[in-house]
Amino acid sequence: MDARGIIGDLAASGHLSADAAAWFAAGLADGSVTDAQAGAFAMAVRLKGLDPAERAALTAAMRDTGHVLAWDLPGPVVDKHSTGGIGDCVSLVLAPALAACGVYVPMVSGRGLGHTGGTLDKLEAIPGLGVELDEAAFRRIVEETGAAIVAASPEIAPADRRLYAIRDVTGTVESVDLITASILSKKLAAGLEALILDVKAGSGAFLPDLDDARALATSLVETANAAGCRTAALVTAMDRPLAPCAGNALEVAASMEALEGAPGALRDLTVALGGALLDLVGIAGGEGRIAASIDDGSAMDRFARMVRAQGGPADFASTWRRDLPAAPVIRDVPAPSAGTVVAIDGRALGMAVVHLGGGRLRGGETLDLSVGLDRIARLGDRLSEGDPLARIHAPDEAAADRAAEAVREAIRLGETAAPMPLVIERIGP
Ligand code: URA
Repeated sequence: MDARGIIGDLAASGHLSADAAAWFAAGLADGSVTDAQAGAFAMAVRLKGLDPAERAALTAAMRDTGHVLAWDLPGPVVDKHSTGGIGDCVSLVLAPALAACGVYVPMVSGRGLGHTGGTLDKLEAIPGLGVELDEAAFRRIVEETGAAIVAASPEIAPADRRLYAIRDVTGTVESVDLITASILSKKLAAGLEALILDVKAGSGAFLPDLDDARALATSLVETANAAGCRTAALVTAMDRPLAPCAGNALEVAASMEALEGAPGALRDLTVALGGALLDLVGIAGGEGRIAASIDDGSAMDRFARMVRAQGGPADFASTWRRDLPAAPVIRDVPAPSAGTVVAIDGRALGMAVVHLGGGRLRGGETLDLSVGLDRIARLGDRLSEGDPLARIHAPDEAAADRAAEAVREAIRLGETAAPMPLVIERIGP
């Protein structure tokens, strides 16, 4: 086999055999496939599409280019993946809540992408906490505390690491087949028994259109189950921020409040996702168990233990208010008129945070983890003139002025709001 033949066949016939997928994935990982060939392959997949068996074969082949973890633990090994959005810090609440319920969560997470924040960047707002752990440390923390949240090491799905960077510059990110193989090659390498997917739809989502979100959820669920990992997806609302904030330290604060028992959509979605995941591994009454782990403090205890094990403060559960970084300029954005919040452009809010320095415009940039937005008005809130649309945390007054303009444009006032239900539908077993 050779790359030219595989790409030529795929472009001509639209078919990719399991052997060809394995050959190409191995070539991506060992460098024998060139960048030009990888770009052409990605474009052929994007234009021709793969059938479910071909997609599963490509996913498994990419997973198998690196280490695939195996566990010997006294409970099921599970994880959650979200397609990302604004104020989506569920992982920080859910991982320890699941650990408190007796399952193990080796969570391999990502950094901010486009307008959406990343779990690893959020965690790094906790002083001292490290996410670039080697495999031995990752395994030890999962065994001892029940959960660890880390970056993919270079040994996890190296074919995806290479292909993702090439897709980013060849217009081939938006392919359901390639997104599926990319997400699942990394998740399945963690050796999971079950996986719950949170696929967002709405203005702040990676795929705003509900039908596109459904198609991605279906592809992810079919492919993960074909690979032997029990998987379901919840398609959930991202027509407004999940927690009413966006920004790294601010989302850690929102997560700590949720772990302290604060009500709201962050808690509700954590309970729904955790309940569905416990269901997949045969643990009955999952939603009640997740809620109880928050209410009795055991989820918070697990989080504090995980933070300590990953190098963070010794007692983050009691010191988080003073440990998290604070921005120098904090001020409200007043509503220009009275009205009901009828639409929130999540992508625009996310980009406002990026421009404040809380996300990346180019790969490799260092972030200001203190900046962002909080107290974001909720869809359906009735505001008087001058009531806050949101509160800005900025590095200086000029940046705060620019963010205020973006917030005023992103939050539309009118008469009647029609928010999506938080959980729109469940796909899968
Ligand atoms: N996240 C990934 O890991 N891969 C994609 O292709 C898209 C989102």
